[in-house]
Amino acid sequence: MSPFKKATIPAAGLALIAGLAVAGSHGAGPFDAAIKARQSQMKLYAFNLGMLGAMAKGEMEYNAETAAGAAENLAKLSTMSMAAAWPQGSDNSAVDGTRALPAIWEKYPDIVEKSKAMSEAAATLADVAGTDLDALRGAIGDVGKACGGCHKPYRAEES
Ligand code: HEC
Repeated sequence: MSPFKKATIPAAGLALIAGLAVAGSHGAGPFDAAIKARQSQMKLYAFNLGMLGAMAKGEMEYNAETAAGAAENLAKLSTMSMAAAWPQGSDNSAVDGTRALPAIWEKYPDIVEKSKAMSEAAATLADVAGTDLDALRGAIGDVGKACGGCHKPYRAEES
């Protein structure tokens, strides 16, 4: 293989990646990637909490390892640095495709409090979820409350 050929392969790879990025933003607003990112974090919350909720309700058999893993995921997700996914001006009064209410930016310190409540509840759940079903049941409620406590003031109803 000639050195020239070796050099062109990564270049072609980069062009492909750039092409994908352009395709991904086609027809979208400037906040599209950020909105998708924060909604993805929320989807991961829902996936992990969904499993734990099903176990708590007896709809899914309790498994200590699965429960501990899902609770650990919630705790990790809630401590990720996601401020960049919430740019000013990306609320639902300004752009399509989001249910984030303008109040998030109007009352900024409060949403930081709501996030803190979420990570504290998730850390407590992660401490006990792998112990037994009763412990999971005892701690999951506060996580659900933390989700709802932020959605109620800051997320628009589904339209
Ligand atoms: C600090 C505030 C806050 C916390 C805590 C929070 N959410 Fe959210 N959530 C939001 C906001 C705001 C939106 C709307 C985001 C958007 O559409 O841009 C949202 C959207 C969602 C969505 C819809 C995602 C989509 O694809 O459009 C789901 C599902 C969700 N949240 C689940 C959860 C779960 C489960 C928890 C708790 C484990 C949680 N959220 C905790 C603020 C929060």
